[in-house]
Amino acid sequence: MYCILYDLTIILFCTSLSLCTSCAQVVMQPQAARLIGTCEGCEAIFEFGQKTLSAVDTLPDFDKKGQKVRVSGTVYQPDGTTPGAGVILYIYHTNPEGLYENKYQATNWERRHGYLRAWIKTDLDGKYTFYTRKPGVYPSRTEPAHIHLTVLEPNGGYYWVESYYFANDSLLTAKEIEPVAPRGGNNGILNLKNEGEIWTASRDLILGKNVAGYE
Ligand SMILES: [Fe+2]
Repeated sequence: MYCILYDLTIILFCTSLSLCTSCAQVVMQPQAARLIGTCEGCEAIFEFGQKTLSAVDTLPDFDKKGQKVRVSGTVYQPDGTTPGAGVILYIYHTNPEGLYENKYQATNWERRHGYLRAWIKTDLDGKYTFYTRKPGVYPSRTEPAHIHLTVLEPNGGYYWVESYYFANDSLLTAKEIEPVAPRGGNNGILNLKNEGEIWTASRDLILGKNVAGYE
């Protein structure tokens, strides 16, 4: 049995759980990570630094003004039924004004993606949850509000999948509502339900689904 644990630049390769204590730390080699298909900025999925990732996370400034949203779901293996454990999801989105805002001292891809981003690692049941404020649309109103999503599998394969969108967004078009081959298995449109001060929605993912070059 193999397990692979992530750190910023280190992956621990273990031949069995019982041998994990004797694992050698191996500096992550470029070939350990494999971009599947093309993607600008997907490498930002490795920018979580020393943070210990968990299946539940809250994006910055969740307590500030804005519509509070909780998104949860299950990630499945390509068979569509086996939970995908230990999968890292990288999400980022605009602020309520529709801007990829920089705060603090942004470096690397944070300068493009803004400070509203997070890395979530699915649990043994493939479950994930994140809390954030609903993003705003670009001031140009050229796209519906969305949350970008990149996936990193335990085997090192990483790729983008369809963004999260929001039902009833007047800017949604057929491209988002009925994509021909949605990566991840669905169009990502969230139907928010009001639960008091928070709006909730769910979205499951199927690893590799409709991802060109995925094996
Ligand atoms: Fe965007």
